[in-house]
Amino acid sequence: MSGIDYAEKIPNNVNLSEDKTLQRALEHWQPNYIDWWKDMGPDGSQDFDVYLRTAISVDPQGWAQFGHVKMPDYRWGIFLNPREADRKVGFGEHKGEAAWQDVPGEHRANLRRIIVTQGDTEPASVEQQRHLGLTAPSQYDLRNLFQVNVEEGRHLWAMVYLLHKHFGRDGREEAEALLERRSGDQDNPRILGAFNEKTPDWLAFYMFTYFTDRDGKFQLCALAESGFDPLARTTKFMLTEEAHHMFVGESGISRVIQRTCEVMNRIKSDDPAKVRAEGVVDLQTLQRYLNFHFSVTIDLFGADESSNAAIFYNSGLKGRFEETKRDDDHQLHGRHYTVLGVKEGKLVEREVPMLNALNEVLRDDYIRDSIGGVNRWNKVIEKAGIPFRLQAPHKAFNRKIGTLSGVKVSPDGRVVSEAEFAQHEKAWLPSAEDRAFVASLMGRVVEPGKFANWIAPPVMGVNRQPVDFEYIRFN
Ligand SMILES: [Fe+2]
Ligand SMILES: [Fe+2]
Repeated sequence: MSGIDYAEKIPNNVNLSEDKTLQRALEHWQPNYIDWWKDMGPDGSQDFDVYLRTAISVDPQGWAQFGHVKMPDYRWGIFLNPREADRKVGFGEHKGEAAWQDVPGEHRANLRRIIVTQGDTEPASVEQQRHLGLTAPSQYDLRNLFQVNVEEGRHLWAMVYLLHKHFGRDGREEAEALLERRSGDQDNPRILGAFNEKTPDWLAFYMFTYFTDRDGKFQLCALAESGFDPLARTTKFMLTEEAHHMFVGESGISRVIQRTCEVMNRIKSDDPAKVRAEGVVDLQTLQRYLNFHFSVTIDLFGADESSNAAIFYNSGLKGRFEETKRDDDHQLHGRHYTVLGVKEGKLVEREVPMLNALNEVLRDDYIRDSIGGVNRWNKVIEKAGIPFRLQAPHKAFNRKIGTLSGVKVSPDGRVVSEAEFAQHEKAWLPSAEDRAFVASLMGRVVEPGKFANWIAPPVMGVNRQPVDFEYIRFN
């Protein structure tokens, strides 16, 4: 079951050839997907041979095969983790019932909405990143970007398979619409805010893959608990791919920090202007990028109180992070959770029914996880003997969604006036000038083993290849 059939037009491990109608529908969608990839996928790189990994099995060991591939020829397909015998719904009002292999009628609309919302983020990030290949700091990084891009494309396939197989005509219409919306488009934007922001430079890319792909991880973990078994099985396999995306972000930022610290020690200065004059990113600018990406990403979890979140949980569609490892009744009636509110100009804690606060529960789990990486980045700075420390901003900082969107808060968690926020905005969030400076550093480095001045080389190459391996063959 876990072996993948690559002889098929659409590689899959779901016996697609046994369902001719479904196979035809997906084969009809496939050329539209390729057209979208050619239009909106990585810019100016369709003919490059890229050293990519492709899934050959969904087993945890050895699922990947590496080789040079032209991206439009990448074998996007449909891979689900194997079915667990006797799996049960693990939470909500259906807890203990057999997990559903088909969509339960009463939950159809909500499930479709969940799948479409997840599916929409996948092509969105490819669109956001499509120009980055033109300014890659090395072949190694360019290859990692393209790996992330093809896998986000595959995640779209994963969601489209569920829509086609389980949602009939409206599922097929949604699958088409996923190829029609465009990140940042005025008239037909992507569904979620952070996926309409620009990813204009590589610092933003690493921050995005660290913070926003991690939102992906938490959403997928919550869906991997779903009582709708095909969704659980497909998201479990997506998670193995997501891990690489977060690695690209964490190690990318770490290498930027390492290079900056080397330069700071060499010139014996922590003056941002002097650091910038050496052609590397000052730590203050890194902090502002971090503030931006962190705050925009935590908005993705939605409103702090949400009746939809309660419905999704109650009906067994979307669980909590590590639901099955939690030691409670998995129904949560009568339980409470602390969320932040605003009273008389101050942040105050409020107790609300936990079922309504599940977005906040997931956001808090995310925040704990993402702070781990910030601490690891600080280790790099500490090791260089520099007293500066990066910090995740307060969760009320720069929020656009939920209760906290109604108040201005500093990165250290003080409620401030509009005027005070405006006065400090340049110190707290990337300014046009910061972005212009970072953009000025971006330049394409294509020689194997060479790296742009603003970033240190990685410790290791990809798949045990040397760092100066020819990861991309430009044709
Ligand atoms: Fe993804
Ligand atoms: Fe991702």
